[in-house]
Amino acid sequence: MGYLKIFCMLISTALVFALSAKNVFAAGNPAEGKKIYMGTNNCHVCHGIDGKPVIPGIPSFAKGESAGGKKLADRKDTDLKKSITEGNMKPSIPTAPPMLPYGGGSKLTDQQMDDIIAYIRSLKK
Ligand code: HEC
Repeated sequence: MGYLKIFCMLISTALVFALSAKNVFAAGNPAEGKKIYMGTNNCHVCHGIDGKPVIPGIPSFAKGESAGGKKLADRKDTDLKKSITEGNMKPSIPTAPPMLPYGGGSKLTDQQMDDIIAYIRSLKK
C-alpha cells in the first residue's frame, strides 16, 4: 500500500511538471500585456499609465476596479475578454468616452488578451 501511494505521488508530480512545461496552465504574461496596453491599442490613453485613469468614469485598474463599480478580482477572464473584444459604446458612467472594440486598435489574439488581463490584474498595489 505504501509503495502504491508513493508511486501515485510520483506520477502526479511528473504530470504537473509536464503540463506546466507545456503551458497548459498558461496565464498571460504581464510584461507582454504591458507592451500592448502602452501601444497602438490605446488602452493607456483612457485607462492611464499604470492603470490610473485621468478621465472621470473610467475604471481604475490601479484600484482594482472594473466596469459598473465591480471589483476586477471578482470578474472572470472570459467576461473581460468579451468587454475588450466588443468594447463598450454605452459606459455605465456617462462622463466616460465609449470604448471601441480592441480599444480602437488592431484585433487582439486570445493570448494577447490573456497577457493584457494579467497585466491589468497586476496593477492593484
Ligand atoms: C476611449 C477610451 C478607452 C480606451 C481606448 C480603452 N478603454 Fe477600456 N474602458 C473604457 C471605459 C469607459 C470603460 C468602462 C465601461 C463601463 O463603465 O461600462 C472601460 C472598461 C474596460 C474594462 C472593464 C470591462 C468590464 O467588463 O468590467 C477592461 C478590462 C478594459 N476596459 C480594457 C481595455 C483594454 C485592454 C484596452 C486597450 C485594448 C482598452 N480598455 C481601451 C474606455 C476605454
